[in-house]
Amino acid sequence: MVRTEFIATGMYVPERVVTNHELEGYMDTSDEWIQQRSGIKERRWAAEDEGGSDMAKVAAERALEAAGMEADEIDCIIVATLSPDHFFPGTGVFLQRKLGVTDVPCLDIRNQCTGFVYGLEIADAFIKTGQYRRILLVGTEVHSSGIILSTEGRDTAVLFGDGAAVAILGPTDDPDRGVLAVRTHADGRYAEKLWGPAPACVNKPFISKEMIDEGLTRAHMDGRDVFKHAVTKMPAAIHEVLEVAGHQTEDLDMVIPHQANMRIAQVVQKSLGLPDDKIYINIQRYGNTTAASIPIALHECIEEGGIQRGDLVGFTAFGSGFTWGGALVRW
Ligand code: UT7
Repeated sequence: MVRTEFIATGMYVPERVVTNHELEGYMDTSDEWIQQRSGIKERRWAAEDEGGSDMAKVAAERALEAAGMEADEIDCIIVATLSPDHFFPGTGVFLQRKLGVTDVPCLDIRNQCTGFVYGLEIADAFIKTGQYRRILLVGTEVHSSGIILSTEGRDTAVLFGDGAAVAILGPTDDPDRGVLAVRTHADGRYAEKLWGPAPACVNKPFISKEMIDEGLTRAHMDGRDVFKHAVTKMPAAIHEVLEVAGHQTEDLDMVIPHQANMRIAQVVQKSLGLPDDKIYINIQRYGNTTAASIPIALHECIEEGGIQRGDLVGFTAFGSGFTWGGALVRW
């Protein structure tokens, strides 16, 4: 039986570090409020000419080097992002071009904070069916160009950060290793609980000065409601994949949650009964990087020795849509 294994990971975050104290200069907020409510201390902002495909290119090159592979050995690119370089075409083709390869299929997916888990589900199916053998799965986000640096936009501006990370996935014949289960969910009744109202093709024109002036181009979120759903769905997503794979919470060696809020991660930890060393949290340094948050956390956790060969690793995500999901991987 073929399973999907993680061959290598790579990440890139922009150089510019933006502390909570810097944000105090743009809006009525405080380091204390941000840390207390979210756990975030700083985040990264992309340079003026730096897009999601630029960041993903560096992350991909780092993963390719770690894997001892050339870019032309990749036979499919899947990009999860809510902040594409352009309305169209997708970020995948810009990334493909920047990697110097051609004629590799590029699939952009729009599943926000759950993007990496949705992407993993797709990649896993592709690999198991033999459709592709080497998939570059990317999470990349540039939020800094969409936030509003004023008190009006403070509820979301302080939370989000920029960054990219990738995983190179491929088949393994080892029945004890690889992706054991992935499950994804969505509930469109809550689409407007966390969304970007404009630009939008449902509007005519799809962008106007009024929309910009009204702040419709920034993320709009009902934070309390999102929080309430996240703290139930994220542990449930782990329980679901454990059950599918015939495992218990005690079997988990590491959980990598989507990094939306330190308090959400703490509820996930408590709900699953995990000790501190079995959940990885790095939101302090990067804020919420949406589709990039799980692969960034995964990469750093591996680098720090938090995941060893043979470990049972869970991913869990929740976000705009609402979308949520979990995955279980035997490393
Ligand atoms: O990744 C996708 C999923 N996203 C999430 O999971 C986010 C889920 N939600 C959350 O993490 C939290 O709800 C937040 C961190 C967004 C907010 O924390 P909260 O404890 O739910 O605060 P709140 O929204 O209830 O706001 C409390 C107060 C409000 O003032 P009043 O109405 O009590 O006077 C806000 O206006 O804090 C105010 N506020 C701020 N104050 C200082 C909102 N944003 C800020 C800010 N600085 N940046």
